[in-house]
Amino acid sequence: MHNKIKLFAELINEDLYKYLDVYRDEYKVIFDSMRYSVENGGKRVRPLLALLFCDACGGDVKKALPLADAVEYIHTYSLIHDDLPCMDNDDFRRGKPSNHKVYGEAFALLAGDGLLTAAFERITDCYKEGLYSAEVAVDAISTLSHLAGSRGMIGGQVIDLLNENNSDVDFENLKLMDNLKTGALIESACVMGCIAAGADKEKINAASEFAQKIGLAFQIKDDILDVTSTLEKLGKMAGSDAQNGKSTYVTLLGVEECQKLVDKLTDEAMGALDIFENNDALIEYAKYLADREN
Ligand code: IPE
Ligand code: IPE
Ligand code: MG
Ligand code: MG
Ligand code: MG
Repeated sequence: MHNKIKLFAELINEDLYKYLDVYRDEYKVIFDSMRYSVENGGKRVRPLLALLFCDACGGDVKKALPLADAVEYIHTYSLIHDDLPCMDNDDFRRGKPSNHKVYGEAFALLAGDGLLTAAFERITDCYKEGLYSAEVAVDAISTLSHLAGSRGMIGGQVIDLLNENNSDVDFENLKLMDNLKTGALIESACVMGCIAAGADKEKINAASEFAQKIGLAFQIKDDILDVTSTLEKLGKMAGSDAQNGKSTYVTLLGVEECQKLVDKLTDEAMGALDIFENNDALIEYAKYLADREN
């Protein structure tokens, strides 16, 4: 793995906990619950992309770190809620029992809510402390809230639930679902990395184009691994989609065709990186995502 990727992952893993370390004893359990799900096991794909794009734009990655934390908090909240019995009903996540198996459903719900709001507090704190101009803070909040919200990630999660046990789902619908439930948050990470670097519109558009391709590829790969991998390798239950009657690209195309599509989308995504001078780590990371085993 590229040196930068290792270094950035270390920066992220240190920074993620700072916000969660400030708590009151009277209700510490919610911070324990939030921390439990943020901890370890996560690949940190979205925060890494934020730092890699900031770096590719020539920015100081320290400035992108709070935005990287914010997107990882939102991603982690989405996983806690995604695993609840009323959604995918999954008992393992990131190599450990799911949040609700340890803290119960009510605290799992609240830990998700806590992480979602923490993301925005983290960004506005940076404005108050003078790290971000008002323009950078508002651009980041506008990007993240739109892409994580009901017109973004949440919309995709709704399509996913509406499609359960429906065998008539077509590609257009699956593409919309995957673009929203997974692509949108990945796009927010890439775009916010550019925003932290003060990049121009052309670079932001290229980051969006990259993210939409790599985001779709990422969810298709997730659906492949759900069929081909194991609990030990994934840190979450394999076979969950079939058990929940989910419609995915894999149910329509099969594993082999899906991997070809992942490779094609990854190539197309890399094509969008030409305008970044400093893109070698990003290219290496895009290839890793296509071939990942967890
Ligand atoms: C899992 O995301 C959920 C999807 C959107 C496919 P990741 O595969 O990035 O999960 P972690 O963060 O590594 O646990
Ligand atoms: C999850 O998709 C997407 C979000 C959490 C927004 P999945 O339901 O396929 O994710 P996993 O497989 O449980 O990680
Ligand atoms: Mg799900
Ligand atoms: Mg799930
Ligand atoms: Mg999945």
